[in-house]
Amino acid sequence: MGKVEAVVRGRAMAGRERDGSAAQAQICFESRPLRRNPFLALAPGDDEYLAYDLMSGRLHRLNPAAALILELSDGSRSAEDLRVELTAIEKGLVWAAYAKWIERAYGEGLFILEGPCPTPPTVRDILSHARALRQDGKVLAAFVCQRHATLLFSCDAGEWLFLGEIAHIIGRRADAREAYERYLELQPDDAEIAHILTGLRDEPAPERAPDRCIEQLYARFADGYENSMCNDLGYQAPGRLIEAIVVGIGGLRNLDMLDLGCGTGLFGRELRTRARRLTGVDLSPEMITHARNTGFYDVLDICEITFWLRRRPTAEFDLIAACDSFIYFGDLRQVVIPAAQLLRRGGWMAFTVERGESEPFRLTDSGRYSHTASHVRRVAEEAGLRIASISETLLRYEYGQQVTGIVAVLRQSD
Ligand SMILES: C[S@@+](CC[C@H](N)C(=O)[O-])C[C@H]1O[C@@H](n2cnc3c(N)ncnc32)[C@H](O)[C@@H]1O
Repeated sequence: MGKVEAVVRGRAMAGRERDGSAAQAQICFESRPLRRNPFLALAPGDDEYLAYDLMSGRLHRLNPAAALILELSDGSRSAEDLRVELTAIEKGLVWAAYAKWIERAYGEGLFILEGPCPTPPTVRDILSHARALRQDGKVLAAFVCQRHATLLFSCDAGEWLFLGEIAHIIGRRADAREAYERYLELQPDDAEIAHILTGLRDEPAPERAPDRCIEQLYARFADGYENSMCNDLGYQAPGRLIEAIVVGIGGLRNLDMLDLGCGTGLFGRELRTRARRLTGVDLSPEMITHARNTGFYDVLDICEITFWLRRRPTAEFDLIAACDSFIYFGDLRQVVIPAAQLLRRGGWMAFTVERGESEPFRLTDSGRYSHTASHVRRVAEEAGLRIASISETLLRYEYGQQVTGIVAVLRQSD
């Protein structure tokens, strides 16, 4: 039995078992032109095809042979014609398995019967259907529609971008990479997507997310940042980080503090009551504008973190914190070692990173970096800092999945 035939036969048998009997309505289809339902959007996968029916809202999973039959069913050939074609290609093919599948597929609406052919949906219809499905959380179906339509109408950068995003969400890396590559051909200045592509292509990761990428991302995100993080993504990092800090510093107050990657000031709010002087540093002018409006900070600098740290001459802080901002750095030595130089004796450093499995760190498909606890420990040691605590916690959610983080509290010797 040929490979193509085996998968179709398996499919037909499985369907028969599920149906519980072979007594299905017989459709006499052999001589009719096979016409694929024009409302089907098709997308190939690794070992299965997906077919989404825009009319019924049903998502079908097809094996490659079934998908081939469907692709060939453009109304120009009957099942009998198909039998002749396929048996000529694959000697010894047992047509019965194919015939069974076609019969079942009629019942599932994958083929249409004779009569006037319904007007197929336009590319625009399919694209807007994809957006609606995404809104409803039906991301796989949205992906199938978006891919189908984008391949037909490939000159719109925004559609490739959307395809890349939803392919990323459902974990189809190759599709995400291809879509982002097509997008970048049309929008070569997009630093965020260029950085994400570095990860998707498994190219060597840069030391940190490029400055232009951070600037672009947070210029776009700044106004909706707090609402999105706190209300949509269940952002917990500031709460978990301050709890860990308080366990270390106890009742200490009137501290000189530095908030690295302060953003809009979410963590400044936590630090303020214990601060004598609070300094915030961030690369994004838009995020700093929000931080300024909070009134929590005594000093705010728009600057890249490693650059800022290198320019400070003396140990001037009692506490240096980085809440969810070291996630944009690979090797943590580039930030922890120079920051340690700015701590007074007995001073504290505390930060969160995303927990990863790859030693010592990895640029993930999100464009952020993940780190291991052993990397954090090694870096602390190299920086001459003692580990007060290292723990794991939920930082927030991303596409419904938990993002687990590491909370580190380190201390300069007295
Ligand atoms: C996820 S936000 C966290 C903001 C804030 N700490 C909070 O917890 O809400 C990350 C922040 O780090 C900043 N950032 C990332 N890389 C940076 C760099 N190399 N230099 C300065 N700021 C950076 C971004 O601009 C952004 O505001």
